[in-house]
Amino acid sequence: MKKKPIIIGIETSCDDTGVSIIQDKNVLSNIIIPQKIHKKYGGVVPELASRLHDKNITKAVQKAIVSAKINKNQIDAISFTLGPGLIGSLLVGASFAKSFSMGLGIPLLTVNHIQAHILSHFIKNANINNSYPKFPFLGLVMSGGHTQIIEVNDFFKMKILGSTLDDSVGETLDKIAIILGFHYPGGPMIEFFSKNGNNEKFIFSKPIVNGLNFSFSGFKSDVLQFIKKKLKKNTFFVKQNLSDICASIQKITAEILLEKVQKAILKTDIFRIVLAGGVSANSEIRRIFISFAKKNKKYEIFIPKKKYTTDNGAMIAITGLLKYERNLFDSIHVSSYSKFKTF
Ligand code: KG4
Ligand code: ZN
Repeated sequence: MKKKPIIIGIETSCDDTGVSIIQDKNVLSNIIIPQKIHKKYGGVVPELASRLHDKNITKAVQKAIVSAKINKNQIDAISFTLGPGLIGSLLVGASFAKSFSMGLGIPLLTVNHIQAHILSHFIKNANINNSYPKFPFLGLVMSGGHTQIIEVNDFFKMKILGSTLDDSVGETLDKIAIILGFHYPGGPMIEFFSKNGNNEKFIFSKPIVNGLNFSFSGFKSDVLQFIKKKLKKNTFFVKQNLSDICASIQKITAEILLEKVQKAILKTDIFRIVLAGGVSANSEIRRIFISFAKKNKKYEIFIPKKKYTTDNGAMIAITGLLKYERNLFDSIHVSSYSKFKTF
């Protein structure tokens, strides 16, 4: 029997170096080398991020190969994130992947990071349903860099229905988290401290945005102003109300996301919803979408397992494999891009 292709995927769009090896939709290895240095700066420092990718990429690739129990000559193709993301970080992954492809004489496959978040659901057993979503579906990508509703008609036939007009949902949570006294990235900390909180104690304004676009900056300013005002009167306000503040922020964030998805369902008549991106790790957001889907038999919801929510090499490797199967190869002359382009 012919050997199934083995694909290595390289993810360096932001702060974590991710390398994964996939064969036949099975993850053979999935290595992430995180960059803790950004914690103290309240956000990712691009120059530090690219330097650390440069330092860690060879180690991550070696670890991925060893942990997959293969040797490098068995790899059939290399995929890497071309964009969007931090340009310096992307260039490290691109340079590595291009050299690897030339050195081993194997094809190169470029990956759009947003598309990869969605296509991570085609890794075997990647979501809590342990099944692949059928087309068409509505993808909701919620990450540190992007918030988008995408109509997905096929693996590489995707249409953006709505995007954020300002801050992404992850960025919003991370910025609010700073005033609450958390390190970057604050999203997981908000989730952690929301446990046992009263999610109706504080009401923050929801943005009014026509159509399927999002806006989070008004919500973010409302929360920040509210907390600053309260802190002026009582310096212990955050400390005394932390779990209620976190729970209330989380609930409104989840509602903003769900309301847009409901609108998208009405507009498209597509009832299958696929969540993706770092913020989809959030338990309250997962819970609200699951309970929404239970209301009507027509709805189907796909939620990624936690390890595939935040940036990882496996989502790049699976997208590479899907491109490999369709002969969608690229030349080494491709250029990395920082801003989102069309798919
Ligand atoms: O997808 P991702 O790893 O990177 C980008 O593509 O941007 O998403 C990172 C974002 C950060 O803003 C982080 O705070 C958020 O995902 N995040 C969470 C949780 N885990 C990660 N937000 C809320 N709750 C979580 N459990
Ligand atoms: Zn991402």
